[in-house]
Amino acid sequence: MDQGVFPAVRPRRLRSTPAMRRLVAETRIDPAQLVLPLFVRDDIVEPTPLQSMPGVVQHTFDSLKGAVAEAAEVGLGGVMLFGVPADSAKDASGSAATDPDGVLNAATRLVASEVGEALVVQTDLCLDEFTDHGHCGVLAADGSVDNDATLVRYRDMAVEQARAGSALLGLSGMMDGQVAAVRAALDADGFEHVAILAYAAKYASAFYGPFREAVGSTLRGDRKTYQLDPANGREGLREALLDVAEGADVVMVKPALSYLDLVAEVSAAVSVPTWAYQVSGEYAMIEAAAANGWIDRERAILESLTSIRRAGAEAVLTYWAVEVARTLKGL
Ligand code: PBG
Repeated sequence: MDQGVFPAVRPRRLRSTPAMRRLVAETRIDPAQLVLPLFVRDDIVEPTPLQSMPGVVQHTFDSLKGAVAEAAEVGLGGVMLFGVPADSAKDASGSAATDPDGVLNAATRLVASEVGEALVVQTDLCLDEFTDHGHCGVLAADGSVDNDATLVRYRDMAVEQARAGSALLGLSGMMDGQVAAVRAALDADGFEHVAILAYAAKYASAFYGPFREAVGSTLRGDRKTYQLDPANGREGLREALLDVAEGADVVMVKPALSYLDLVAEVSAAVSVPTWAYQVSGEYAMIEAAAANGWIDRERAILESLTSIRRAGAEAVLTYWAVEVARTLKGL
């Protein structure tokens, strides 16, 4: 036999059996590294399914309790709460966001008291769900988003969310200086222990489309004056470094799958945890393709999450969190 034509190096040995593949797998997903985003309304009596996100609902307070209990039961790391106020509760400054009885603060209080020990209760800190114009901040006279006036609103929101029992505030508005402003407000009010998850590299993405249905967004126009241009990688890294310097406890890259380069770069550059958000459009794409029989749904879900983890995300926000946790645990 001519030895020269046969390989001396055979990587396939490590792929030969399921047991061997399991042993050498570099990346694992643990339910504790998954965070479930949840939508809650205070003006509905039944959970309301979302057309563009099959399997996801807007919760009533009652069904929210059940969903959070289930999240805890399957061992998730946390839940991220989004409040969906009635249209009549929206105004130019997003007042309901700082009302202790506003939908998000009330839901947070309910959830934190029930499961605050079993998992990390997190809240979205942004104004877009609460404003009648749908922007993530308040507007200046010329209609532009007023950065510094928005920071004043974020500070007040942060204190209300902390008071309601949120343990980790998800700053998703992409205003300059938002982390420093919120940190100072929390510390001044005795909430030094409440942590900040900074949506550091959040891109102006078409993949948020279904989310806009989920929160009943009224946005006209776009968010390109505050969210990042998908063309820019270095700018995303700069935002993450700035957020860490301002005191972020965790940084987030969002969306996930189209931005894995950022997940890798940010996680290599910072010493705080780097997370990624598998957003609504990423969910909808896989669900829609699977519904058509074009891809294997379960494999696609696990592959996408594995890739996000492999790129460097320590935890992932995903609408499939409960299902994946059950699969992993063989439930
Ligand atoms: C803003 C916010 C958005 C998402 C989470 N927080 C939407 C946006 O920036 O337009 C999107 C999440 C998703 O698409 O799953 N509060």
